[in-house]
Amino acid sequence: MCGIVAVIGSREAAPLLLEGLQRLEYRGYDSAGIATVDAAKSSLTCKRAQGKLVNLVKLVDDQGALGQLGIGHTRWATHGKPEVRNAHPHRDSSGGIAVVQNGIIENHSSLRKELESQGYEFASDTDTEVIPHLISRELNLIKREGETSNSTWLLEAVRKVSFQLEGAYALAVIWEETPEALVVAKRQTPLLIGFGEGEFLCASDTPALAGFTRTILPMEDDEVGLLTPLGIELYDSLGKRQQRSPSLLKGQEDVATKNNFRHFMLKEIYEQSETARLWTDRYLPLGLSDEAPIALPFEDSFYEGIERIQILACGTSRHAAMVGAHLLEQFAGIPTTVFYASEFRYAPPPLTSHTLTIGVTQSGETADTLAALAMEAKRRAVYGDIAFASHQLGITNRLESSITRQVPNILDIGAGIEVGVAATKTFLGQLLAFYGLTISFASRSKQCSSKEVSKLINELRSVPSQLITLIKQHDEIAEQLSQQFVDVQNVIFIGRGINYPIALEGALKLKEISYIHAEGYPAGEMKHGPIALLERRVPVISVATPGVVFDKVLSNAQEAKARDSQLIGVAPEGRATEVFDALLPIPEVSEWISPLFSVVPLQLLSYHIAANRGLDIDQPRNLAKSVTVE
Ligand code: G6P
Repeated sequence: MCGIVAVIGSREAAPLLLEGLQRLEYRGYDSAGIATVDAAKSSLTCKRAQGKLVNLVKLVDDQGALGQLGIGHTRWATHGKPEVRNAHPHRDSSGGIAVVQNGIIENHSSLRKELESQGYEFASDTDTEVIPHLISRELNLIKREGETSNSTWLLEAVRKVSFQLEGAYALAVIWEETPEALVVAKRQTPLLIGFGEGEFLCASDTPALAGFTRTILPMEDDEVGLLTPLGIELYDSLGKRQQRSPSLLKGQEDVATKNNFRHFMLKEIYEQSETARLWTDRYLPLGLSDEAPIALPFEDSFYEGIERIQILACGTSRHAAMVGAHLLEQFAGIPTTVFYASEFRYAPPPLTSHTLTIGVTQSGETADTLAALAMEAKRRAVYGDIAFASHQLGITNRLESSITRQVPNILDIGAGIEVGVAATKTFLGQLLAFYGLTISFASRSKQCSSKEVSKLINELRSVPSQLITLIKQHDEIAEQLSQQFVDVQNVIFIGRGINYPIALEGALKLKEISYIHAEGYPAGEMKHGPIALLERRVPVISVATPGVVFDKVLSNAQEAKARDSQLIGVAPEGRATEVFDALLPIPEVSEWISPLFSVVPLQLLSYHIAANRGLDIDQPRNLAKSVTVE
């Protein structure tokens, strides 16, 4: 979490920093700050504001921040409350060195004690503040003599400090004594250098750079970089100069607009039909053969020898992975297990052979997912499973993200930029990616007939047009139904089989944006505990789609109704649905593709409940779209 941006060149830095931060605000919005160095006066100005970026913009408008060199930060609080004193940039005691950081310095507490014992005074509760003090201490130790310029001293000081830091970080440093340079460094947290016209930039992610340049150079772990108006120099941890060429950004990094929608989330829910259309056009074009019924970007060799699949993901991506696992097991016949990436890292299962590892992350930046994938690759290499150490697949919406640099095979969901923190169209895109993989594996494994595969393909081709109607219909239904949730404090979502993950996703959406406590549960498990929660004020939303578990889910729904809960069904019209007090109708489709429809009413219901409450739907409290710390 947190986004950092830095710039040095011939233009005033503050407006560029604020523009870059605006494009990084999805990484956190607890506070924001910038620091600039005015070369004429050799003085550093630091402006910080609590809350959203708009507060900082106002402050900078009112008070100014001069200089053609600067650093900026948008914060998602880890250490220390979201208050101004904990906002970045953080400075050393003299106020002449300023640092922005994204990551977690795990040994900050021992470093702080050591620095305090040496007389360094701290002004915040953050882990980051040790860094400017450490740099200041190093600068005092460096013998400043000979022809070497100040910028080399700063570079050397940061390189030495990086040895003292444990954890993951991306940082940018300025010093009022070096208005001709800024220094950047990173370990296990992304940092990209941008080559602009007359300026060099650095940022946590491509959107912050895309407004200025499309020529990008991602930094490697443990590198330190020196940026001046004339060029960049990169060094490894031993101080050896590195030579690498930049590349051109491939993906569309446009800034999205809300058009006429009230919120990005609503716009993105509506965009799901287009996500599905783009996906079917790209991967299911007409004229494919029975032998290769889907146009995924992988050679036959990609599928060779795969007997099992394990999927690592977090949040909504994990729910998509759970639907995927159901499809891969039940339709394609491949044993598949889904893990929370954060749990897998520290308790991986015993190794199994011939296992493909898939990471699912819309942002391509989730720290736990990336670290779990890296750990798995290393573990397999150590055990001699070389083939499957490097045989990993990433499913992402961001072609320029860290996962695409880390994992050799990428499946692009192509949903376009998603701004709302609550994932909607990327979830649908991830589901579609799993339908694609399922078709590929099923046609190879011969677990099902080519007729069954063709049927699934034809059903998928009809999804985009069906979604257009469904979304419009449910926007209205959900708006009305949401009125009944004015005083609701708890909601239970139930589903079974392929729609159990949809119950989880429905509950997560409601929690994230409306702050109503919600739980998703497998319908058959309700009687083993959660049913005790049911009473008149606790609505139950039951996802009941025709298929193997339809009657079972209806019985479970009856059990909830018998406990006085208001029962809302997500089900096709007229199919024994009189049990429901309210119906959120979905088309009668095969159970296999039902999650693509059943999730939509739940997204819209959450949206309207939160909108009625007047909440900040696109930037819910305490959350961030890209979770770059573990
Ligand atoms: C955050 C976001 C969620 C997302 C999760 C995983 O919690 O708020 O919407 O599902 O991270 O993110 P990823 O980028 O890995 O899909």
